[in-house]
Amino acid sequence: MNKRTALITGATQGIGYYFSRIMARNKVDLVLIDKNEDHLLELALDLYQRYGVRVKFIPFDMSKNNAPFVVYNDIIKDGFHIDYLINNAGVGDGGYFHEIDWEKEREMINLNVVCLVQLTKLILNDMVKLGKGRVLNVASTAAFQPGPNMAVYHATKAFVLSFSEAIANELKNSGITVTALCPDPKQSGLQHLAEIEVNKLLKMRKLPKDWEVAEFGFHSMIEGKTVAVNGFMNRLLLNTMRLFRKSTPGHPYAKYPVSNNE
Ligand SMILES: NC(=O)c1ccc[n+]([C@@H]2O[C@H](COP(=O)([O-])OP(=O)(O)OC[C@H]3O[C@@H](n4cnc5c(N)ncnc54)[C@H](OP(=O)(O)O)[C@@H]3O)[C@@H](O)[C@H]2O)c1
Repeated sequence: MNKRTALITGATQGIGYYFSRIMARNKVDLVLIDKNEDHLLELALDLYQRYGVRVKFIPFDMSKNNAPFVVYNDIIKDGFHIDYLINNAGVGDGGYFHEIDWEKEREMINLNVVCLVQLTKLILNDMVKLGKGRVLNVASTAAFQPGPNMAVYHATKAFVLSFSEAIANELKNSGITVTALCPDPKQSGLQHLAEIEVNKLLKMRKLPKDWEVAEFGFHSMIEGKTVAVNGFMNRLLLNTMRLFRKSTPGHPYAKYPVSNNE
C-alpha cells in the first residue's frame, strides 16, 4: 500500500491539533512536533487507537537554533519520507515594539520564520527528488498589512506569505505545491497571548473555529492553492488591499520563474 506521511509542527493545540486529526482520519502516518511531551504522547496514542496510523512524535522547542536540522535527522534515521509538510507552529506577541522584550521577539522570529524556512528547505529537497509533495505554511490575514502593536508578528506572517508565493512559483510543474493558509484572528489563542483587544468589526463577525480553519487549510493544500483565504468577503478585502499597496506589478525578476525541469 502506498503509505503517506505528514509532518505537523505545533501539533497538539489549536489549529495544529485538528490538522493532526484530519491527516490521521485520511490514513496518513504522522510525525508530530510540539513542545509538550505529555500532550504529544496523549495525542499520538489517541490517533493510533482511532485510526491505526503510525505516529512518531518529537518533543522539541522549534524556536531553538538548528531545531529543524535535529528533527530532520531524527525522522530520516527512522526511515520516514514526508509527503505533507504542515508548518503550523507560530506565536504572537503584542505591545509597542520599543517596549517588547527582545528575547520574546527573537523566539517569535525563530519559530515563525527561521524554523519554517529551514524545515521547508530540508524537506523540499527530498520532495523535489521524488517530484511530489505538498507544503502548507500557516500565515495569517495579518500577512496582508502592517500591524501596529503587533509589528513583528505581522511582519513574520508577511514573510511567510511572500516566501510561500515565491517558492510556489519556482516549483510550478514540479509536482509539488506550496500553500500559504491565511486564517482570521481568533478571539482566543494567540490574540489572548498577545493581549490584543478584538476590534469592533471582528466582534460583529462570526469567526471560524480551529477545526474549520484546519479543514479549509487541508482542502486548499490538496487542491494546490497558493494562497488560501477563507470567505468571499475576506478574499475581496485582502486582495483589494494588496492591489492598492502595490504600485508596480511585482519585482521584474518575477517574469523569469526558475523551472525545475530545465
Ligand atoms: N490564533 C489566531 O488568531 C491565528 C490567526 C491567524 C493565524 N494563526 C496562526 O496559526 C498557527 C497556529 O495558531 P494557533 O492559534 O492554533 O496556536 P496555539 O493554539 O497557540 O497552538 C500552537 C501550538 O504550537 C506549539 N508551539 C508553540 N511554540 C512552539 C515551539 N517553540 N516549538 C514547538 N511547538 C510550539 C504550542 O505548544 P504549547 O501549547 O506547548 O505551547 C501549540 O501546540 C500559528 O502559526 C499562528 O500564527 C493564528
